Parts: sequence; structure tokens; C-alpha cells
Amino acid sequence: MSNYHIKHLEEYYQVYRKSVREPENFWEEVAEEHFMWQRKWDNVLSWDFSKPEVKWFEGAQLNITENCIDRHLATRGNKTAILFEPNDPSEAAEHITYNQLYERVCEFANVLKGQGVKKGDRVCIYVPMIPELAIATLACARIGAIHSVVFAGFSSTALATRINDCDCKTVITSDGSYRGAKTIDLKGIVDDALDSCPGVETVLVAKRINSDINMKQGRDKWLQPLLDAASKECPAEVMNAEDPLFILYTSGSTGKPKGMVHTTAGYMVYTAYTFKNVFQYKEDDVYWCTADIGWITGHSYIVYGPLTNGATSVMFEGVPSYPDFGRFWEIIDKHQVNQFYTAPTAIRALAKQGTELVDKYDLSSLKVLGSVGEPINEEAWHWYNDNVGKKQSPIVDTWWQTETGGIMITPIPFVTPTKPTYATLPFIGIQPALMGEDGQELKGNQVDGRLCIKFPWPSMARTIWGNHQRYRDTYFSAYENKYFTGDGALRDDVGYYRITGRVDDVIIVSGHNLGTAPIEDAINEHPAVAESAIVGFPHDVKGNALYGYVILKDTGESRNHENLRKEINQMITEHIGPIAKLDKIQFTSGLPKTRSGKIMRRILRKIACKDTSNLGDTSTLLNPEVVQDIMDNVL
Ligand code: PRX
Repeated sequence: MSNYHIKHLEEYYQVYRKSVREPENFWEEVAEEHFMWQRKWDNVLSWDFSKPEVKWFEGAQLNITENCIDRHLATRGNKTAILFEPNDPSEAAEHITYNQLYERVCEFANVLKGQGVKKGDRVCIYVPMIPELAIATLACARIGAIHSVVFAGFSSTALATRINDCDCKTVITSDGSYRGAKTIDLKGIVDDALDSCPGVETVLVAKRINSDINMKQGRDKWLQPLLDAASKECPAEVMNAEDPLFILYTSGSTGKPKGMVHTTAGYMVYTAYTFKNVFQYKEDDVYWCTADIGWITGHSYIVYGPLTNGATSVMFEGVPSYPDFGRFWEIIDKHQVNQFYTAPTAIRALAKQGTELVDKYDLSSLKVLGSVGEPINEEAWHWYNDNVGKKQSPIVDTWWQTETGGIMITPIPFVTPTKPTYATLPFIGIQPALMGEDGQELKGNQVDGRLCIKFPWPSMARTIWGNHQRYRDTYFSAYENKYFTGDGALRDDVGYYRITGRVDDVIIVSGHNLGTAPIEDAINEHPAVAESAIVGFPHDVKGNALYGYVILKDTGESRNHENLRKEINQMITEHIGPIAKLDKIQFTSGLPKTRSGKIMRRILRKIACKDTSNLGDTSTLLNPEVVQDIMDNVL
């Protein structure tokens, strides 16, 4: 009997020990008892981090949508699977039952087939948080097409890069989207993107805002008439355990975004098992994760994890500030939400509003609170704990990544005693290691180092689409035989982990992972810009904000700096999206560089953070004089 549901601390330690000592037996038992397989595996795990190559449940055949939907029909057919809460609170919420989800996914899958989409084809999904997004995702999985969901806040350039990188021939979108009081012309963004995507043959368009849009003959098709004509039955494609399920792009510190490839069986088993335990989900609970399905959190913990457990998963179209900052609390009250999973940046924004709006609503249904995406600071943790959880609902500070597929370090609520700012203990099956400066693993407690994982787990990404070498170089070359996360962490006296933040040039802004290089590239496209460097600095709501140092070309003319700042941010919005805009832009005559020409970001970071007491040795710089100049003009 596997311990599918962990209920006390002793049990956690016991199960954890087993998962480390006999990982194959452990995961085999979990997989055996809780999922629907068309064929069982021949081998639970084979792995070699030097290649790297990892295979879980090899030989098994399955379809994840049978586990998310079909399996529940007999017992939970009329239960709500997806509870859609629209942007506008006066629009009725939509309860999509498992029976209805089955029909809608099958219809959509048949539409895709009708458009010639086949197993293994990549389909780009650029859809706002409306039911079609979840349904399109599952429809791809139903027929074995690989979905590549692109967050519908990304710009046309960012979308085009992602469409082209994995050669999508089909794009799914909507006429537009609602975002608070605004509407966004999503189809217009797609049209712009497709000017540079010659491979796209079909665009399926869902109707959401009823705007008057341009439909390109032969390429663009309204979705609804096709769905209306499609059959409500679609046999699930037989997938091998290691067949790709999806690609999801994440920013690296350099180069273009990395298309992380997740495969089928291991991802399913791990996201299901973590969902059940990390949220202590019980049959009649209503669970709500506020992320967008365009991010990994939405993939794993709005769609796949909840649905494999037959849960009711709330999907929210809007923003926390519309029509006012009480919206989250109103939704919790209205739908009697039991588990609430959000990001520190949202908590900080809401905490700024005081407690009046929180106190207005009945939050007594809440049992578990979650946090994800960036370190949660102590103040935000206490505000969340005191005012939302009323000190009754444990906070699970869940550390993980797009690459890890599922939650890796986290308390288990009612099991692991929580500690503010600590993600606490590794989840079952996860073997973290902290590495020191000399490349050796730091043993024992009270140590601070770079966070690695030294044994495979079922939901880890298997490669970067089209570039396995980059996968190896990025994650498996810093430390031999270990997956390197890019984060720093410390382990306290009882073995709890606290994530201290990125140790590379990735900056987490409002929980979004942003690489410095693509932003610098966007800025450098501005005709007046000669060179630029981006660093992060602390921000009370966003966690980090971006600070740009920009050298202008010497044209002899004087330029209006305020206008230039606007234009630079416009450039970034066009190339990446508004999330990557800079809060501060300092124009400077030079950037501190090493003799080999590398920008010393460490110095720039300290200046932007106004922490110049110890800048370290600047004498080895090529141009030490610029440091004082930059300090004198800091914003
Ligand atoms: O730096 C860590 C931070 O977010 C990074 C991963 O970002 P992404 O791939 O976009 O996935 C975010 C959602 C899973 C990590 O390398 N991070 C994520 N969760 C936490 C965190 N930092 C501290 N505490 C967390 N709970």
C-alpha cells in the first residue's frame, strides 16, 4: 500500500526515507494504485545525469486525459471540474462538470484532428484565462499533440519566437481578452506575430469579447462553429510514458527562451501526488490557484494535478484589483474556496490595501494557503497568515520551477510545522544538495550554498526543445551528476530550506522569471542606444524591479531623457511584454567592465540597491572611473 496521502510528520519522514532508499519501489506503488494505464511499465526508472537522460515508467502506455477526465466519469460525472470565474463579477460563474469537460475536450480534439493536427505536432495556445484555454490544452493531450501554451500577456515578438522555435503549424487564440477594466486585442497581436511565422497554417479563434477583428481567409477560423459540428466522442491517443506532453518556455540568463519539454507519465504521477499532499485535497474541497495557465503553476496546479485527483479547480479570468482590491476575498467567499494558492507579489499588493477589504468577506472556508514563484518575505507571510488564514490555515511556501514540473520543497500542511520565509522540507522523493564555492556538497545543517538536486524525480523536464546540448550545459554541467537549479539556499539547524534567490542573471519580477539578456537586446534595438545592462533591485510589491543602465550613442545632439525612457520601455513592451518594463533608467557614459570586456553586474546591482558600502575590488576594472560617476547619478 503506497502512502498516497501523508497525514502526520512521522509518516512524512518514514515515507521520505523510503522514497530515497527505494525510489523505484516507492514510485511504482504510487503509479500502480492511483492511475489508469493502458499498459504498465517494464522499467520504473533509468537515468544518467551525464548525458543527461532520464526515463520514468518506460514501456507504459497511457493518456493523461483519461486520468484527468474519463476515469472520474462513473463516480464524479456531475461534479464541477473547472469552476470558471469571469473577469466581470456580474457575469455568472460557469461550473463545468466532469461530464461536460469530457464532451468539450473531445469536441475540441476532433476539431484539431479535422484541421490536420496529428500526434507529435506542436500546437501553440495563446488564449486568455477562459475555459477554452484549459480545454484546448487537454484536447491536444487527448490526441497526442504537444501543447505549447504562451502566456497571453506576451508581446507579438515573444509569441513569434515561441511559435517558430518549435515549428507550430496551428495557433489557438481568441478575439480578445478582458483584463480588469481593459480589453486587449489578442488577435491583433497574433496577426502581428504571424507576419514572421511562415509555418503557421491554421489559426483557431475563440470568441470572448465580441470585437470586430480581421480574419485572414483560409488561415483563420472561428472555433465555435467547428466545435458545434464536432463529435462529442474522441478516443484517447495511446501515448508512451516518455512521449512529450508539452513544451513551456522559460527565460534563461542568456539567449532565446528555453522550450522545456515535459513528458507524460512521470509528470502525471508527480503532479497528482504533490497536489494531493501539498494541498491536503479532500473530495469536496474547492481549490483555487490564481496563476495563469500560461505558466507552469497553471499547467501543473490548475489543470493536471487537480484534475487527475478529480478535484474542483477554480479558474479566474481577472485580476486581483478589479473591480476593487477585494476581488480575491470576494471569490473565496462566493465559492467557499478551501485551498488558495497565490504569489507573494499579489499578497504584497493586497496587503498594501490594509485589512478592511479582507475583513468584509467570510474567509472561514479556507484550510490551506499556498505561496509560489519567489521568496515570500516575512512581512507578507505574516499578513497572509494573520489576515487571510486567521492563523488557522497553514501556509505552504512551495519552491519549484518550470523545469521541475512539480513542487519540490514545501511544507505539507498540518504535517510540517511552518516557519516564515522557509520552504521547509524536501517533498517526498526529492533529494536536494547544497553546493559550496569549491564545488563540494555541503553536508550537515546550518549551511548556505547553491541548490542542486542529486536524484531524478518523475516530473523533471527531459530536454530543451531542439537543443539538448543547451539543456546539459545549463543544468548539468555546473556540478557533476547533479541538476543545478540556479537558486541559492540555506539549510537551518533542523534541516529546513530557505531559498535565498537566483544566483544567475535571471531576475524574478512579480513572480515572473526574466532573463537580463533578452531585455538588454530589446533596449539595444532603440536607435539611440549604444549599450545597456539590467539589474534587479528590491521593490515592496514586485519583489524585484528592473533597473537599467543605458549608454546612448554619441550623436552630438541632446535628447530628452524622459521621452527616451518611455521609448525604451515601449521597445521592451513590444519585444517581450509589459511585465519586463524598467522601473528606473539611468543614462550613463560607461559601464564597469572587466579587462575581458564582461560587464560587472555585481557592482551595478549594488549601486541600484543603494548598497555601496562594500563594492569589492574595483581596481581590476578596465574603467574604474565610471563607478563613481554611476554612483553620483544613481536614481
Ligand atoms: O528562483 C526560484 C523562484 O522562481 C524560480 C522559478 O521560476 P519559474 O520557472 O517561473 O517557476 C515559478 C513557479 C514554479 C525559481 O528558480 N521561486 C519559485 N518558487 C519559490 C521561488 N523562490 C523562493 N521561494 C519559492 N517558494
